Amino acid sequence: MCGILGVVLHDQRQNVANELFEGAMFLQHRGQDAAGIVTCGSKGRFYQCKGNGMARDVFTQQRMENLVGNMGITHLRYPTAGSSAGSEAQPFYVNSPYGISLSHNGNLVNSIELKEYLDEVVHRHINTDSDSELLINVFAAELEKFNKSRVNNLDLFSALTGTMNKIRGAYACIVMLAGYGIIGFRDPNGIRPLLYGERVNKDGTSDYMLASESVVLKAHGFENFRDIKPGEAVIIKKDSSKSKPEFRQVVEPKIFAPDIFEYVYFARPDSVMDGVSVYRSRIEMGIKLAEKISKIMEKDPDFKIDVVIAVPDTSRTSAFQCAVSLNIPYREGFVKNRYIGRTFIMPDQQQRRSSVRRKLNAMESEFKDRNVLLVDDSIVRGTTSKEIVAMAREAGAKKVYFASCAPPIRFNHIYGIDLADTKALVGFERDEEAISKVIGADKVVYQDLQDLVDCCKSEELQQFEVGVFTGEYITGIEDNYIQELEKIRAQNQRIKDQRSRGLSIDACIDVGDMVDVKAEVDISMYNRGDYA
Ligand SMILES: *[C@@H]1O[C@H](CO)[C@@H](O)[C@H](O)[C@H]1NC(C)=O
Repeated sequence: MCGILGVVLHDQRQNVANELFEGAMFLQHRGQDAAGIVTCGSKGRFYQCKGNGMARDVFTQQRMENLVGNMGITHLRYPTAGSSAGSEAQPFYVNSPYGISLSHNGNLVNSIELKEYLDEVVHRHINTDSDSELLINVFAAELEKFNKSRVNNLDLFSALTGTMNKIRGAYACIVMLAGYGIIGFRDPNGIRPLLYGERVNKDGTSDYMLASESVVLKAHGFENFRDIKPGEAVIIKKDSSKSKPEFRQVVEPKIFAPDIFEYVYFARPDSVMDGVSVYRSRIEMGIKLAEKISKIMEKDPDFKIDVVIAVPDTSRTSAFQCAVSLNIPYREGFVKNRYIGRTFIMPDQQQRRSSVRRKLNAMESEFKDRNVLLVDDSIVRGTTSKEIVAMAREAGAKKVYFASCAPPIRFNHIYGIDLADTKALVGFERDEEAISKVIGADKVVYQDLQDLVDCCKSEELQQFEVGVFTGEYITGIEDNYIQELEKIRAQNQRIKDQRSRGLSIDACIDVGDMVDVKAEVDISMYNRGDYA
């Protein structure tokens, strides 16, 4: 899961970089692992700044000054199985044909097949484990087939049809073609989000934006916006005054099934995704959870709750509504430390405090001698929940109940939110009683799947991607795909472990076949000082 953004300014003398940077601030929650901006100047050259870390650290004033041009794209990376090396920071770039740069949010599930195709049929070199590198190369190979010195919109649309017929999985993408424009497209199931917006300037001209969430569009004055439809593409040309953006349904849409995790946990509450307010859906989750809890309380007289406490931050909305619906007091029992940054782990030194305890502090006054209901958005590995339950008990709680706004997560998330290996999930082959034992709670209450779906649906939106709960994925998956995912994940974990034990990165080279690991903070820049 990642954040993507693209902007084309009407005025070709203006630089878009600052707007791309400020937009990134509204999407930072979608990925803090790496950040990148690529702009395109009037000579058709790309200017790039990428690095590991948060946008505010990667994009310094000095680096930004080198990003010239009136159009550009941004990427904020969420760490997924294939993407922890610095060399895999996006946007990706291929020079042939025409110069292409790509920001991808999502995950392809037929990567094994695509790797073979790129190698054996079109002879393209793949240098990383990232499926986004596969995607940009499939698109490049499709474009190359025209064998033209210049392409037009029609060619681009049909190259996209070819691309989308080859790739399978979740993708919302923004592609920039050097000297031409930016292109947005979304997978035929609409699993990952992408919106398009227009900002009309005082002189009647228009600027255009593509973004993962509506908050960016609103904040930047792109008042007329809408979601890109499943299987749809849009081309926004660099000289937007001469030709308006062109939309096309490039492949037949399939079952419209956005990832329900956007609503549960991922998206900002003030975003509206595919017509559904994320905040509203979280309120509904609180109502439905309260209904379920009431039913359990009717049957079980020992199940008494004195106070509802949220596990910050995402679940606050649902927890508060749940308390209101149950007519039980809501309290902020955990205070979050806002200034938690990195930790420095010295070689051979054990981390003394868990990351949960560094982030959260429990207030005794709110827990002491009470039966508390903790509400969280979801339970993944259960390690965090276990720690939180322990903190509640240490703060003096009598009984600790734990409610989750989402049903038990029992399967891999394969569309870009890297949760954990299946076996590492606390919900894997465990029922609710066994789960409550593992996390140390007196009882665990999970939202029912149908209730969760009802919280997020609208007239137009009836179905969601819910594979993490059911194991049935909307796109299907290739044989061995999960194993491949787990292999890459294990490989990245080895590298992380070596780093955290203070070994130099060189020492990681002999762990498996991952040799392109760069330093922890890696800023690469092309075309420095080369102004368009
Ligand atoms: C591509 O186009 C060039 C120039 O028009 C031509 O010489 C060449 O044979 C074409 N290549 C293929 C593979 O069609």
